Amino acid sequence: MSLQNEVGTKEIMKIENVKMHFPVRKGIFRQVVGYVKAVDGVSLTLTKGETFGIVGESGSGKTTLGRVIVGLYQPTGGKVWYVSDTGKYDISSGKIPLRVRQKIQMIFQDPLSSLDPRFTVEKALREGLEISKEYNKKEMREYLLRLLKEVGLSQDYFGRYPHELSGGQRQRISVIRAMSMKPEVVVLDEPTSALDVSVQAQTVNLLQDFQEKFNLTYVFITHDISLAKYLSNRIAVMYLGRIMEMAESEELFSNPLHPYTRALLESLPRFEARKGEKGKKKTLIGEVPSPINIPSGCRFRTRCPYATEKCEKVEPKLIDVGNGHKVVCHLYEK
Ligand SMILES: Nc1ncnc2c1ncn2[C@@H]1O[C@H](COP(=O)(O)OP(=O)(O)OP(=O)(O)O)[C@@H](O)[C@H]1O
Ligand code: SF4
Ligand SMILES: [Mg+2]
Repeated sequence: MSLQNEVGTKEIMKIENVKMHFPVRKGIFRQVVGYVKAVDGVSLTLTKGETFGIVGESGSGKTTLGRVIVGLYQPTGGKVWYVSDTGKYDISSGKIPLRVRQKIQMIFQDPLSSLDPRFTVEKALREGLEISKEYNKKEMREYLLRLLKEVGLSQDYFGRYPHELSGGQRQRISVIRAMSMKPEVVVLDEPTSALDVSVQAQTVNLLQDFQEKFNLTYVFITHDISLAKYLSNRIAVMYLGRIMEMAESEELFSNPLHPYTRALLESLPRFEARKGEKGKKKTLIGEVPSPINIPSGCRFRTRCPYATEKCEKVEPKLIDVGNGHKVVCHLYEK
């Protein structure tokens, strides 16, 4: 079964060669001695109504990319375009009117840290809406009550503080807070991984309902490649700040090309290797290298069983193998 959305062809966001390099400082004068290259040249396009999955090991730059997409970070390189009915906006400029920025929301992994402990649920929910000045006090309360009801919570929850809610309830409040802005794009950063297994499915269903109702575009960030397959129309596999492979979800699972993707998939239970796949062992070994010292040539080469001298010297380029399937690896060069 799949929860994937029906998707049109309208481009809603374009991410062009985005880089987010954080300076590393040392000494009493806090000199810059290097950079953490958390995101190091990512390009992708989001289509209205799709769920775009981003998978990869811890530290691969998924959250940082998500924060750049919603405008929480101004990238150190590249552009993030948001194409709405009212115009094309450069989110990466940091100079976007609030009413536009609010159309791109983010829901975080840990709802407790994204809710201010001093604010009641009502205050937390009103905060963003008050800035937008779309509603008067009474209308706002009615609107928020409707949303509360929609996620299965009663009016009583308005007066509660975050610590008086369960993890699942807190995440539902975070979901309403994002949805109350009537966004077009929502970045979901591991939205269920901090939750009890029993409420994970509920949260996924809730997000799915909102997507269907408002034709939302989701960027779904997760460690869980099986969940990404279940929810996403397309998936990008990230490694050390770059996309290594990108394809439609079914295609990525039935025809994984990049050695990193294959290793990730082979770590899953019940994944069957492609027929006729023999030869070198492709188990994912070793740790992700530091994003301060990214390996030369192909950044995956220190863990790749197929690495050659060329991989050490030459950085592979993105190769389009057709049907929207793209891979960054010398093995597929003609
Ligand atoms: N504000 C920051 N300053 C310096 N380094 C940072 C900052 N934010 C993230 N990093 C570093 O950038 C890299 C990517 O981090 P990021 O949180 O984006 O990874 P991730 O893929 O979301 O990992 P996880 O799956 O564990 O959430 C990491 O090495 C991290 O330590
Ligand atoms: S370019 Fe070389 S090191 Fe990189 S994934 Fe391909 S074969 Fe492995
Ligand atoms: Mg993260």
